[in-house]
Amino acid sequence: MTEPVRVRRITAADWDAVVALERDAYAPLGLCEGRAALQSRAAVSPGTCFVADVGGRAAGYLLALPYPALTVPDLGRTEPVAVPPGNLHLHDIVVAPALRRRGLARHLLRRLTGAARARGDERISLVAVGGSDRFWSARGFAPHPDVVPTGGYGADAVYMSRPVPAPREVS
Ligand SMILES: CC(C)(COP(=O)(O)OP(=O)(O)OC[C@H]1O[C@@H](n2cnc3c(N)ncnc32)[C@H](O)[C@@H]1OP(=O)(O)O)[C@@H](O)C(=O)NCCC(=O)NCCS
Repeated sequence: MTEPVRVRRITAADWDAVVALERDAYAPLGLCEGRAALQSRAAVSPGTCFVADVGGRAAGYLLALPYPALTVPDLGRTEPVAVPPGNLHLHDIVVAPALRRRGLARHLLRRLTGAARARGDERISLVAVGGSDRFWSARGFAPHPDVVPTGGYGADAVYMSRPVPAPREVS
């Protein structure tokens, strides 16, 4: 990848690309949420949702929003309310297939970690789907076997979380 990567907030012009990335990643798993649900999550917390911009195009995205620990958004519903800081839920991250394994997710996660610190969050949570829990374990997330994610995540979904890393820790 020769072009520089710029992680920035999502703009209105990015949504067609974000919706297409989400559809291509999750439709085969039966987990596609669609535009209205995705936009409702970003609307709750625009400061914790980003795209990885490569050559002026959204090559990946990350949506995160404050959410009570040990609970998860319902994939079939739009987002109703904002909740106070404490736990930041990484709802979704996708990188374009042609640009995977080049560090774009790492860029997005680093930005998220900075945002979580700035907000005063203590933990970051997520639901690992499609067998991605090994990827998340390598990023410091631990499973919560007692929390079964309901709301359309599929049988292999794993709720995981980690403390927000200190500034010098690898995130
Ligand atoms: C998961 C995903 C976002 C990773 O994006 P990416 O840009 O390829 O990740 P990076 O290049 O930043 O990789 C970060 C690290 O994870 C490793 N990695 C990336 N994809 C991996 C995979 N599928 N399995 C195991 N390790 C993987 C990389 O080798 C790298 O390791 P390193 O830091 O030791 O070098 C991407 O594969 C994706 O969009 N998948 C489909 C959607 C998805 O499953 N999202 C997560 C749902 S919870």
